[in-house]
Amino acid sequence: MVRASGFSGTADAPGDKSISHRALIFASLATERCAVSHLAPGADVRSTAACLKSLGAQIEMDAAGAVVTGCGLTRLKAPAAPLDCGNSGTTIRLLSGVIAGSGVGGVLDGDESLRRRPMKRVLDPLRAMGARAQGFRGAGGDETAPLQFEPGKGLTGQRHELPIASAQVKSSLLLAGLSANGRTTVLEPHQSRDHSERMLKAFGAPVQILEERAVSIDGPCLALKAPAHLHIPGDASSAAFLVAAALIAPGGEVEIRGVNVNPTRIGFFNVLRRMGATLELTPEPDRAGEPVAAIRAREASPLLSTELVSGEIPSLIDEIPILSVLATQARGWTTIRGAAELRFKESDRIAQMARGLTAMGAEVEELDDGLKIRGPCKLRGTRIDAASDHRIAMSFAVAGLIAEGETFIHGAEWADISFPGFFQLLSRLSGGAVSVRGEERQPGERDK
Ligand code: S3P
Repeated sequence: MVRASGFSGTADAPGDKSISHRALIFASLATERCAVSHLAPGADVRSTAACLKSLGAQIEMDAAGAVVTGCGLTRLKAPAAPLDCGNSGTTIRLLSGVIAGSGVGGVLDGDESLRRRPMKRVLDPLRAMGARAQGFRGAGGDETAPLQFEPGKGLTGQRHELPIASAQVKSSLLLAGLSANGRTTVLEPHQSRDHSERMLKAFGAPVQILEERAVSIDGPCLALKAPAHLHIPGDASSAAFLVAAALIAPGGEVEIRGVNVNPTRIGFFNVLRRMGATLELTPEPDRAGEPVAAIRAREASPLLSTELVSGEIPSLIDEIPILSVLATQARGWTTIRGAAELRFKESDRIAQMARGLTAMGAEVEELDDGLKIRGPCKLRGTRIDAASDHRIAMSFAVAGLIAEGETFIHGAEWADISFPGFFQLLSRLSGGAVSVRGEERQPGERDK
């Protein structure tokens, strides 16, 4: 890609990845037919669908969404082969809770990147509830995929105090709690995204929000009731890349429609306002129990630097790579701390952002738990490795739109994990500053 001379237009945000995983999982644990529209189009959600089919759910997918006829929590079948969660942390962690609770046993595995990610955080609390599970124990002291679950004899509800806020771990434990005897409570140090809590309520489960950071479920609750239709809102984390591009490209102005504006997901937009951006949110009808809005953003140059505090990290955890790109265009030092979790995502996102932004000419300090970035600075185009990580690929694509010279993203196809068509959309909104070349390859193909 080359420097864009503009960035404007309207677009619909693709379906939210987190909510799509949950819609397929909860509908599979019910027995009514549930039509899910505007499902997230990426590879991660297809991994969840394939695993659920192997567990006995009927799922028909097409471009518009999916029709799920679940088999119910008590009728899951033991998968004949290891379940391939692909690149998806949400798939492996949420399905760990499902399998532990259902007692069917099975193996959960994934690609090279997923096999590096820490799983003890989910296995330990599941074992405390009575699950018989173990992961691969490597040199680092954690446990990683493949995860082996033995058929169980039933779980007992527990109170879990998570050391790190994580919606994936929380959701896994709530899913296990559905079939456990007694109350399962999850307490987090900071509030993480609450899509599972909202969807459990919509499916009639006895979930209770005890206080802002504690949620409980009284089990066993073996009969979830699926709504006939779930319309998935657009993904705020995907919209973030387009909003960011509009803020820093000359003459930038976009309207992204149908974006989920759940308060636990919009930390990024709140921080942008603090950085001097003007964002207009126009409410749209709720979807699947989630608030939705159209977001309008226009060029804001230069932005102001900011300091991120640890309490707000969970509400923008996936947006930190793109926020670091914006920090290069903000006056002063932007400090991101309390974000060590980023080292355990699809790639070590702290290291990848520090390396790539430095290569583009930015002033960056890598910290154990975050980044310090000084702006504004002129970025220069270079060759960037996406490190098999969709959000790294998309973040540097936005950086490339304002960089001098050509930026080449090696592994751009990884964007398909959450946002197929991202580069084509970027090309349309930038008036052709982006060209997509190279072989057509599916994410993960290199690993095989
Ligand atoms: C997700 C939770 C977050 C986020 C991930 C999706 C979810 O991870 O980074 O992309 O759908 O629950 P953690 O639970 O590890 O914080």
